[in-house]
Amino acid sequence: MKVRKAVIIVAGWGTRFLPMTRSQPKEMLPLVDRPLIQYAVEEAINSGIERVIMVTALGKRAIEDYFDHAYDLEHFLEQKGDTERLKQMRELSKMADVCYIRQKEHLGLGHAILIARDIVGREPFAVILPDDIIDSEVPCLKRMIDVYAEHGAGVVAVERVGDEDTKKYGIIEPRQVGVSERVYEVLSLVEKPEPSQAPSRLGIVGRYVLTPEIFDVLLVTPPGKGNEIQVTDALQRLLKQQKLYAYELEGVRHDTGAPLGWLKANIAYALKRSDIGPDLREYLKKML
Ligand code: G1P
Repeated sequence: MKVRKAVIIVAGWGTRFLPMTRSQPKEMLPLVDRPLIQYAVEEAINSGIERVIMVTALGKRAIEDYFDHAYDLEHFLEQKGDTERLKQMRELSKMADVCYIRQKEHLGLGHAILIARDIVGREPFAVILPDDIIDSEVPCLKRMIDVYAEHGAGVVAVERVGDEDTKKYGIIEPRQVGVSERVYEVLSLVEKPEPSQAPSRLGIVGRYVLTPEIFDVLLVTPPGKGNEIQVTDALQRLLKQQKLYAYELEGVRHDTGAPLGWLKANIAYALKRSDIGPDLREYLKKML
């Protein structure tokens, strides 16, 4: 069955970015000149997703407004004759068929996914955590959907992490499959282990392709690490019924959920832009 729907989780507090996130969703922080959330939506669309479901929370209204029609602004640009910007604004509001549902309590990623259960229905679906911006030629999610199509089982994106970072990620126990060096079967997975307990150094990053059975398992998964319902724990339980694969991402992942990663991502993306990249390069050279 085709993966048609993507659940984008935008319900987190953004504590790593306080105090900025006291009154602004972290997903609205800019990456050069567009908010982080737009990259997640574009990745979904460029991967063949037809329907975006955002799990939001209190204080995230700016995200809904961003993807809405902005009639006044469009009218203003039309009057001014700024056709280029007008086109951009119209494309943005037409970009995706987005619906929103709220997570009313912060009970973890697993719980946030469960909130989307009725809208997703009984079909495979993608999950995107928009903090993780993946800069690659072919969208990471598209590659994962291809792995799903080949194996007919769930897929998590992974990346090699350092010893000191196993405590920040779900870590998988991998078994190489087939000829592709990037695809593994997941034998087990554990949420944020100490390096000594980690089954490998392959950490899960914010992209999943899940089967609808995950909902049944999440319903009975007790709170785990951080007293939150963890999707990693649910996937581990689901391994008794079905296989799970991992796709080692290509390109560069930026963790934009904290200031340093966000700054690095901005520099990397801005340097690639023909309009501002050359000036920024000169500026950085002078600074160092
Ligand atoms: C969540 C998941 C974790 C995964 C990470 C990727 O953790 O629980 O398994 O490795 O996302 O970003 P969080 O970063 O929400 O604490």
